[in-house]
Amino acid sequence: MSAPIAKPWLSSQSDQDPRSATGSPLRWGIIATGGIARSVSQDLALLADAELYAVSSRGQDTADAFAVAYDFAKAYGDDGGVPGYQRLLADEQVDVVYVATPHAQHYEIVLAALNAGKHVLCEKAFTINAREASELIDVARSRNLFLMEAVWSRFLPSMQRAFEIAASGELGDIHWVTADLGFPAPYSPTARLWARKDGGGALLDLSVYPLLWALGTLGFPQTVSASGFINDDGVDAQNALTLGYNHGAQVQLTSSLLAHGPRTATVAGSLGFLQSVGSINNPSELTVSTGWDSRRAEAFEPVGGGYVYELREVTRCIQQGLTESPVMPLEDTLNTMRLFDGVRAQLGVSYPNDRH
Ligand SMILES: NC(=O)c1ccc[n+]([C@@H]2O[C@H](COP(=O)([O-])OP(=O)(O)OC[C@H]3O[C@@H](n4cnc5c(N)ncnc54)[C@H](OP(=O)(O)O)[C@@H]3O)[C@@H](O)[C@H]2O)c1
Repeated sequence: MSAPIAKPWLSSQSDQDPRSATGSPLRWGIIATGGIARSVSQDLALLADAELYAVSSRGQDTADAFAVAYDFAKAYGDDGGVPGYQRLLADEQVDVVYVATPHAQHYEIVLAALNAGKHVLCEKAFTINAREASELIDVARSRNLFLMEAVWSRFLPSMQRAFEIAASGELGDIHWVTADLGFPAPYSPTARLWARKDGGGALLDLSVYPLLWALGTLGFPQTVSASGFINDDGVDAQNALTLGYNHGAQVQLTSSLLAHGPRTATVAGSLGFLQSVGSINNPSELTVSTGWDSRRAEAFEPVGGGYVYELREVTRCIQQGLTESPVMPLEDTLNTMRLFDGVRAQLGVSYPNDRH
């Protein structure tokens, strides 16, 4: 049976230098000062039409230090019971905010940002569950504001090329996909990767990337079967997902906070297979093998840390009055959170946010 032609999510901007302006500058506000906030701020500085305007933190000293290090004009810390992010959202100069806190705070902060009239780019996992995601999407739509989950890998030239090859027919009908992502994360009950209150576990932190290879080549599955190792704190230290498709294709995905895996993806079809080289969320090379002995490689070198492409897309969409990106639609975010809810039900993982 033939596999369907998958939606490749090809960006209309993919052949342009992502640093070049697509319209009037936007003033950005960054919420949180952790690892990914630093990486994304460095890439934001590369965009010709981005103004690094404000940063917020729970601590004023931390916000001040971040603003100096990355050249933001304003720094907002918690003050007299008012959270730093609320102070940033009250600043009328801010056009768009980037939310980079742990997952469990995304819902509350994105809701506040939308209610303050700001466009929003929010880190993955977008929320803890589909109910939170659905509510945020409804609010963004009702207020005509841009909202997007920061799945940066979708916008990378290497990933766009992988999905283009899969959709081109060069590999024939796609029958199976495998992808893994993992690293040994030092255990601490309070570290965000492990803490139940922060949405800890491999699923919400890592599985979005292996899943991307399935979505980009085969779309959302009809069945999902999950197994995992649940630690004493009740979060998944690692998980394995098998996705099934009515036309007969199958996908196997592994995410782990315990093992240093190869971080590779393979897409196999009736005429050949494609493999990623380098991490699956930012491949440096794709190899395409067709027949028994034909093999070619395509190499990629992303601009900056690779976040420039998603930042360009957010900027372009807001400048053009779009409220969501056709490359990273909100429906995909909602369906991803539904899929993760189903996996968690199978694994027996719940979070405090599930209660309200
Ligand atoms: N796209 C990517 O490549 C990528 C990579 C890594 C992580 N992420 C995602 O980005 C998010 C943050 O990850 P990270 O690695 O940057 O984490 P991190 O290094 O622990 O930083 C998170 C920051 O959020 C703030 N924060 C911590 N606990 C908080 C709480 N209880 N309430 C409000 N704010 C809190 C802190 O900033 P302040 O002290 O300034 O408040 C902290 O520095 C996660 O959702 C993660 O999945 C994405």
